[in-house]
Amino acid sequence: MSISIKTPEDIEKMRVAGRLASEVLDYIEPFVKPGVTTDELDRLCHDLMVDVQGCIPAPLNYAPSGYNPYPKSICASVNQQVCHGVPGERVLKNGDIVNLDITTIKDGFHGDTSRMFIVGAGSIQARRLCEITFECLWLGISVVRPGAFLGDIGAVIQKHAEKNGYSVVREFCGHGIGRKFHEEPQVLHYGKAGTGPRLEPGMTFTIEPMINAGKAAIREMPDGWTIVTKDRSLSAQWEHTVLVTESGYEVMTLSAGCRAKPEWIG
Ligand code: MF3
Ligand code: CO
Ligand code: CO
Repeated sequence: MSISIKTPEDIEKMRVAGRLASEVLDYIEPFVKPGVTTDELDRLCHDLMVDVQGCIPAPLNYAPSGYNPYPKSICASVNQQVCHGVPGERVLKNGDIVNLDITTIKDGFHGDTSRMFIVGAGSIQARRLCEITFECLWLGISVVRPGAFLGDIGAVIQKHAEKNGYSVVREFCGHGIGRKFHEEPQVLHYGKAGTGPRLEPGMTFTIEPMINAGKAAIREMPDGWTIVTKDRSLSAQWEHTVLVTESGYEVMTLSAGCRAKPEWIG
C-alpha cells in the first residue's frame, strides 16, 4: 500500500466535497446555542447535506473493522469528549465547548473538516485551549510542501501544544483522504521533524490535532465510539483537508464562514 496521488480531476472533485463540508459548519454555527441538543445539530446537518447539497454524510453507518456502524451523520464532541462524540439528547449549556466534525461524500470524493464552537461565553481556559489548538492546526498546515517530511507536521504541532502546557492525543491521527474516508498515510500530531515519507504534489490528507488541557491519555465510552480524556480534562480539535501543491499547500475545506489562518503563521 502507498499514498495515492490525485489527478487534476480528482482534485477538482475534492475541492467541491471540501467546500461543502465547510459550508455545513457555516450553516450550523447559529444553531450552536444553549438549549440545543446534539441530536438537533445532527439532524440539521444531515438534512442540509442530503436535501440541499446532494451529499452523503460519510459518518452515517461508517463501520471500520472492529467498530459497530456509526449511528449518526456528524460527530459532536463536548468538553472532555476528544472525538467521535455520538449526537444524542445531551443539551448544550452556556460555557460548553463542542467540536462538530463533518465529512461529506460528493461525486465519490470525501471532504473532512471540524471546528470548535463555544456555547455562550466560555471560560478563559476553554477559550485558550480552543485558540492554541487552532494554532496547532495551522502550524501543521504551514509546513506542508513538496519535499517536506510527514513527520514535520506532527513535530511542529507537538511543540506548540506542549509549550503551552497541553498534551497531544496519540491514538487518533490525521489521514489520507479521497475516494476513501481514511486512507494512507497516518498523519501523526506528534513526533520528529525529518522523519516519515516525503510529501509529493497531489497527496491529500487531513490534519486534525486533538489537544488536551490535561494529560494525553484517553478512554472509550461504552457506546464504542465516543472518546474522552481519562483525567476528564477539556479537549479541543480543529481539522482541515489539505492538498500538497507544486509550491506548498492548498486547504480544500474552506468556505465563506471559516476562520482565517492566524496572521503570525508564515
Ligand atoms: N471525521 C472523523 C475524522 O476526522 C472520523 C469520524 S468517523 C465516525 O477522521 F464514524 F465517527 F464518524
Ligand atoms: Co479526519
Ligand atoms: Co473529521
